[in-house]
Amino acid sequence: MSNVQAIINEISAEVQGQRNSEYPISPIFLNRWSTRAFSNREVSDQDLYTVLDAAHWAPSAFNDQPWRFIVAKTEEQRSVFHQFINEFNLAWASSAPVLIVVASDKLRENGDPNGAHTFDAGAAWASMAIQATMLGLSTHAMGGFDRIKARQLLNIPDNFELHAVIALGYQGDKSLLPEAIQQREVPNARRPLNELVFEGKIE
Ligand SMILES: Cc1cc2nc3c(=O)[nH]c(=O)nc-3n(C[C@H](O)[C@H](O)[C@H](O)COP(=O)(O)O)c2cc1C
Repeated sequence: MSNVQAIINEISAEVQGQRNSEYPISPIFLNRWSTRAFSNREVSDQDLYTVLDAAHWAPSAFNDQPWRFIVAKTEEQRSVFHQFINEFNLAWASSAPVLIVVASDKLRENGDPNGAHTFDAGAAWASMAIQATMLGLSTHAMGGFDRIKARQLLNIPDNFELHAVIALGYQGDKSLLPEAIQQREVPNARRPLNELVFEGKIE
């Protein structure tokens, strides 16, 4: 079985025993988890743009596609992003070869507020993360960054909301992470489905 086939069809060794789904979902949903251990292996433009392509096929209200992706993939670009990522996140995210700010337009083309832009940007990020997993890549979203600084440094107009910085790259050696972060380097679990799903109405 090819690597890609295995990622899609089999629960990976590190996820086995950590994550159990209640129903027979595709292993890809369990195999995606947010590592903090990134190797310095470069991501090809082909793979980077495959991930971004998947993201932009997400559904959106009125097909407005409000998401925007600002990418750092060179040393120079990453050093700008490193200026607005917070200290805790930078401790691990500085190794990631690609960083992506996910933003979305708060306004529709006719100037009306777009009440769905955050929902839509979330769908794009989820698609990005799943496509990355399928390519053997890891993603880790960060809300911990200075949005004012990011807006200034990246030239992002006021009508865009900044949601997250995504670290993208190949999983690396967790023993190189600071001790406290190493302990958190395992796939986490989820609340039982019956705490989150309501048939008919919330009781
Ligand atoms: C919008 C968003 C913001 C997040 N912010 C951070 C962050 O600042 N730092 C961090 O280490 N992880 C961050 N995370 C990662 C979450 O903690 C992680 O996705 C969650 O614990 C579920 O784990 P999993 O992604 O491995 O399944 C963020 C995730 C999302 C979706």
